[in-house]
Order: sequence, then C-alpha cells, then structure tokens
Amino acid sequence: MKKIMACLSVLALGLLNGPVQAAEPVSSPGNTPMPWAYAINTPGVEIPFAFNVPRTVPDSEVEFIFTNPRNLYEPPDWHPDDHPVMPEIVAKGREPVVFACGYCHLPNGQGRPENASLSGLPEQYIIQQMADWRDGLRRSSEPLHGPASAMQAIGANATEEEVKAAAAYFSGLTPKKWIRVIETASVTETVVAGWMYVEKPGAGSEPIGNRILEMPEDLERTELRDDNSGFIAYVPVGSIARGEELVRSGNDGVATCGTCHGAELRGLGPVPALAGRSPSYIARQLFDLQNGNRQGLWSPLMADVVARLGIDDIVAISAYLASLDP
Ligand code: HEC
Ligand code: HEC
Repeated sequence: MKKIMACLSVLALGLLNGPVQAAEPVSSPGNTPMPWAYAINTPGVEIPFAFNVPRTVPDSEVEFIFTNPRNLYEPPDWHPDDHPVMPEIVAKGREPVVFACGYCHLPNGQGRPENASLSGLPEQYIIQQMADWRDGLRRSSEPLHGPASAMQAIGANATEEEVKAAAAYFSGLTPKKWIRVIETASVTETVVAGWMYVEKPGAGSEPIGNRILEMPEDLERTELRDDNSGFIAYVPVGSIARGEELVRSGNDGVATCGTCHGAELRGLGPVPALAGRSPSYIARQLFDLQNGNRQGLWSPLMADVVARLGIDDIVAISAYLASLDP
C-alpha cells in the first residue's frame, strides 16, 4: 500500500482508496528485472512541456490545452473520427484513482512502452486481467514502476460495469502497425523521462548490449499523447531471426506459441495477440510470469513456456514479436 501511494504521488495523482493487496517476493533471488523493460525515471530529468497554452498535432483539427499538473482524467482526443465514441470510463475515468484508460492506453488503444496496447484484445481476456488485478494476482516485478502500480490500483478500484464498458470498447478496435524494429549494434545514450527512454542531452553512442531500447518516433508528439505517432525499437543484431526460431519451433517439447496465441500470433479465442506489440511490455510480462508476480487465473498455461527462458531469449522473442504486423 505504501509503495503504491508513493508511486501515485510521484505521478501527482490524488488519493488511493480501496483494496490493493501487497504481497510476497517481487523477484526471485539473483533474478533482477531488466531496467530496459521496466524503465524508471532518471532523477532530475524532465522533458520540457508547455501547459495552459493551446497545442496541436499534425493531421488533427483539435486544439487542446493541457492543465497543470497533468490531468489523468482528461486525455486529449486528437482524432475523434478515427475511433468509436469512447465510454465515459475510457474518456474521463472516475475519481478517485480510476484514471481515464485513454490517457495511458490512448483513445485508439495503441498504448505506449510503459503500458500496453489494448486495441483488438479479446473482450474476455481484458475482463479476466482486470479481475486478476482486483484479486491481487497481477503485479509488477519492479515496484518502482509507477505506471504498473497505477494500473494495479485501477484494476483494484474499477467496477464491473466500468470494466465491461472498457473491454467492449478496446476489443472492438483494430490494432495498427505502431512499432518499427531496427537491428543495430549501437544506440544513442539515453535517460528515462516520463517512464520512457529518451535521448540524453549531448548524447554519444554506446553498444546496445543484450537489451531492447524502445523510443518515440517523435518525442514531442508522443508527449502530446498523439495516438498517430508510434515508436522505434532498437534491438540487437540477429535477435529477430533468433526470436522467430524460438517462437516457431517451441522450446524443448513445449507447445509452440501459435498453438495458443493463433498461427499468426494475432490471438485465438480468449488468448491475447502478441504480434506487433510493444517489446518492452512483452518482455515485462514474460519476466513477471516467470517470477510469479503475474499469477492470474490463466497464467498457469504459460508456466512451461517461461520456465527456462533466459534474458537473451526474452530479448529475442520480444524483438521478433514486435517486428510482426499486428
Ligand atoms: C496510469 C496509466 C494507466 C491507466 C490510466 C490505465 N492503465 Fe491499463 N495499464 C497500464 C500499464 C502500465 C499496464 C502494463 C502493466 C505492466 O507492464 O505490468 C497496463 C495494462 C493493462 C492491461 C493488460 C493488457 C494485457 O495485454 O494484458 C489491461 C487489460 C488494461 N491495462 C486495462 C485498462 C483499463 C480498462 C483502464 C481504464 C479503466 C486502464 N487500463 C487504465 C497503465 C494504465
Ligand atoms: C498452452 C497455451 C499457451 C502457449 C503454448 C503459449 N501461451 Fe502465451 N499465453 C497463454 C495464455 C492463456 C496467456 C494469458 C495468461 C494470463 O492471463 O495470465 C498468455 C499470455 C502471454 C503473454 C502476455 C500477453 C499479454 O497481453 O499480457 C505473452 C507475452 C505470451 N503469452 C507469450 C508467449 C510466447 C512467446 C509463447 C511461445 C514461446 C507462448 N506465449 C506460448 C497461453 C499460451
């Protein structure tokens, strides 16, 4: 509870009320969450942002004024004609703590690296995940990851009707290509601001190492929460082919991913899609499932799959999945 309160106040977000369960070990000994997937803000770094003045984005007729501090109950909707009318809970949320889903996941459900895409996910799957949060079964392996803590609080506080409305809305959307995957040996030096990797001022370059760096295509548009401006994922050379091999062949007799997630990895029945989704998000989930921090009703189906994955496997699988068309 204390940790969640702290994270929420970091987000400048009001009071928490309701049953959020804290629980046991957050990661197993010797297995630390990968900082590239669970990006924690670098102290003292802020992305400059103009409040209280009219803002615009390309290809939109909307003018929007961000209030100060950022209002998580009033996300901008730059392209109202590109999606059906949002239910109240998606467009405005409900005080306290059930922040507008559209603020973080964006009105078209494409999402960002620090959260998740929701567009086109099975309705039943979304409802089950919200129930898992409500029941304290889904947590992040990194308690300092503010957005995940906020999601935990939202799941604990959303009503059944709110969940139903949001699930119907997001599952009715069609996901679009959102992430450009680039294999590279070196990347620009970065810091984390707004829970995202951004270029360090005066950056040089450094080896990518065994990690994925997901960054906005256009930082300013992403900061304005433009749901038409996606992300670039820099991944190690060779990781896409290696990921494809792991995904297609299965791992030592474990069923292949396509058996449950659909041949095209675009979801099957209530099982979620994997294709074209944020590699930071996918990597966090594989790690959370492996370390027992995500132990929802359906998580046991993933137990054999994640049991023997190393970090290099998680990098490769996440890079390959992100490279696919959703
Ligand atoms: C403060 C930002 C924020 C808001 C607002 C928010 N979410 Fe989330 N949501 C997240 C984050 C962060 C994650 C990913 C958590 C993780 O990586 O462990 C997430 C993940 C999810 C997932 C899991 C997707 C999957 O593939 O399993 C669902 C479902 C979801 N959110 C639904 C909602 C709904 C419904 C609302 C509105 C009632 C909402 N969220 C509002 C931040 C937010
Ligand atoms: C036996 C069926 C099955 C197989 C095989 C399987 N999955 Fe899953 N997977 C599931 C189910 C069910 C869930 C939802 C788990 C939950 O609700 O906690 C899931 C969830 C996931 C998630 C989290 C998705 C999200 O939106 O949060 C990822 C990532 C994932 N699987 C990757 C894989 C990969 C990669 C493979 C192959 C290496 C694979 N899965 C094989 C059934 C399976």
